[in-house]
Amino acid sequence: MILVTGGAGFIGANFVLDWLARSDEPILNLDLLTYAGNLETLAALRGDARHVFVQGDICDRALVDRLLADYRPRAIVHFAAESHVDRSIHGPAAFVRTNVEGTFTLLEAARTYCATLEAGMQAAFRFLHISTDEVYGSLGPQDPPFAETKTYEPNSPYSASKAASDHLVRAWHHTYGLPVLTTNCSNNYGPWQFPEKLISLVIVNALAGKPLPVYGDGLNVRDWLYVTDHCRAIREVLARGTPGETYNVGGWNEKTNIDVVRTICTLLDELRPSPEGGYARLITHVTDRPGHDRRYAIDARKIERELGWRPAETFETGIRKTVQWYLDNPQWIADVQSGAYRDWVAANYGDRGQGA
Ligand code: NAD
Ligand code: TYD
Repeated sequence: MILVTGGAGFIGANFVLDWLARSDEPILNLDLLTYAGNLETLAALRGDARHVFVQGDICDRALVDRLLADYRPRAIVHFAAESHVDRSIHGPAAFVRTNVEGTFTLLEAARTYCATLEAGMQAAFRFLHISTDEVYGSLGPQDPPFAETKTYEPNSPYSASKAASDHLVRAWHHTYGLPVLTTNCSNNYGPWQFPEKLISLVIVNALAGKPLPVYGDGLNVRDWLYVTDHCRAIREVLARGTPGETYNVGGWNEKTNIDVVRTICTLLDELRPSPEGGYARLITHVTDRPGHDRRYAIDARKIERELGWRPAETFETGIRKTVQWYLDNPQWIADVQSGAYRDWVAANYGDRGQGA
């Protein structure tokens, strides 16, 4: 068995579904079900004995200790986090709590648990920490993409909290010998992404005929990774990564935000033409995000060289699948647009005004 934290969120749930589609090794899924966690995403696993879901907090040491003692997992794959930069600007405290204190709690619990294991199981145990490329800071247009050796220069409360968690993970390896692995990946997209991040928000807004908010000049660059490619990278790192090492995972897909938004509009024009005219008419430049990082790009050569992983999807194939998935799943979209979601949209976009 493996313990997955945050397995009801976007990437975690994709990972759980993908894992159980390929293997019968059970998953213990610990997730607090914050606004970002959604059991509907895991509906296909209802009644499946290979998936044990526990609603709980990674900051709850007694709970984590009990789960480790009762289920004796061979690995922890740690996704649980507060993950949205804009929310971290509005309310950073939750980010420090979950991302820093939560990771600390898991590390301490894992260290204690590991010491109780017999030698063979102890040697095989792994703690895989899922992190982000945002810890590296912002690149200029000519800078080389982030390698694993890049200095940490986080700029948002989100990236600072993830950087802090990465440092704790590193220290627990060096000081206590905990067999940790860290992955730092670029922006994920794909099915079941909560519609607060750029791609999911733009698809959902376009289908509702609402403005497509582009921060600032829209020329910020992100490197897009299709979530299924990411899940495969995590499986490879878990199976064959070297303890103490970090692996950057990226899609080799650098795009400006405005290009991403236009691509989505073009696909929707083809797949769900609107009688009102092309979706690009909805593009609205709004006031920029404070401290907005200009460019992220991942050098994913280490994971290719050492573990043979490369993304299978190009941006063009991945974005088409993603748009089609949202077209095919209107009920999932309707279900996540709760009152809390509408409150967030009002808080983040309500007084932004027109941008560049
Ligand atoms: P998400 O926000 O969709 O999901 C996070 C999940 O964690 C939710 O199910 C939530 O209920 C759960 N959670 C939050 N606080 C918790 C707590 N205290 N205890 C237990 N569970 C808790 O996030 P995601 O997009 O799936 O990201 C997963 C991981 O990948 C995060 O660590 C994030 O930093 C990292 N990451 C994400 C991206 C991306 O593009 N989405 C990119 C790079 C790295
Ligand atoms: P996001 O999906 O929030 O991921 P991150 O900030 O972690 O990279 O944003 C991706 C890019 O899109 C980022 O440059 C901010 C921009 N963006 C918009 O232009 N409009 C939006 O409404 C959102 C949510 C993001």
